[in-house]
Amino acid sequence: MRISNLMLIAVALFSGLNIVACIKTVPGTNLVQPMVDHGEKVKRGEYLVNAIGCDECHSPKRFGPQGPEIIPELRLSGFPHDAVLPSIDTGTVNKGWALFAPDLTSAVGLWGQSYAANLTPDETGTGNWTEDQFLTAIKKGKFKGLENGRDLCHPCLGLFTKPNR
Ligand code: HEC
Repeated sequence: MRISNLMLIAVALFSGLNIVACIKTVPGTNLVQPMVDHGEKVKRGEYLVNAIGCDECHSPKRFGPQGPEIIPELRLSGFPHDAVLPSIDTGTVNKGWALFAPDLTSAVGLWGQSYAANLTPDETGTGNWTEDQFLTAIKKGKFKGLENGRDLCHPCLGLFTKPNR
C-alpha cells in the first residue's frame, strides 16, 4: 500500500469526523444537531488498526506455541520499560539498514534508537490527548501531537507524513 494511502486511512482513523456523523432534528424544533455513532467509529477504528498493523510495532509480544504473539494485556502499550535491547550491529546500521528488537517495539537506524509509543487510553499513553493532538501527531509527525514538539522519528513517521516532507 502506498504511503499516501496509509496517511489517508490514518487520518480517517483518528479524525473520524466524516465517517459516521449525520444530522438529527431536535423534536418540535427546526434545530439540527450532529449525531455521531461512537459504536460505529470504534468498530471502524478497530478495523483500521488491525488492517494497517499498528500492533506490529506498538504491541509487546511473547513467544507462544505458534510463535510470536501479542501479549493481550499489553496490547498497544509500546516499548516495555523493562525490556532488554539486543546489542547493535553498527556496521549494518551504518550501511543504512534499520534493525528491530525481536518484538518490533524498538528500532535503530541512522536516525538513532526509537521506541514505539504507548497508544493505550491510559494517561501514560494517549488517554488525555485531544482529537487535535491526534491529528497533529498523525498528519505532521509531531511528538505527543504538540505543534512545538519534536518531530517523530522513524519508523512511525514515514507511515503517515507526506513523502516529500
Ligand atoms: C514500523 C513500526 C511502527 C508501526 C507499524 C506503527 N508505529 Fe506508531 N510509532 C512507532 C515508533 C517507533 C514511534 C515513536 C517515535 C518517536 O518517539 O519519535 C511511534 C509513535 C507513534 C505515535 C506518536 C505517539 C507520541 O507519544 O507522540 C502515534 C500517535 C502512533 N505511533 C500511531 C500509530 C498508529 C495509529 C499506527 C497504525 C496505523 C502505528 N503508529 C504504526 C512505530 C510504529
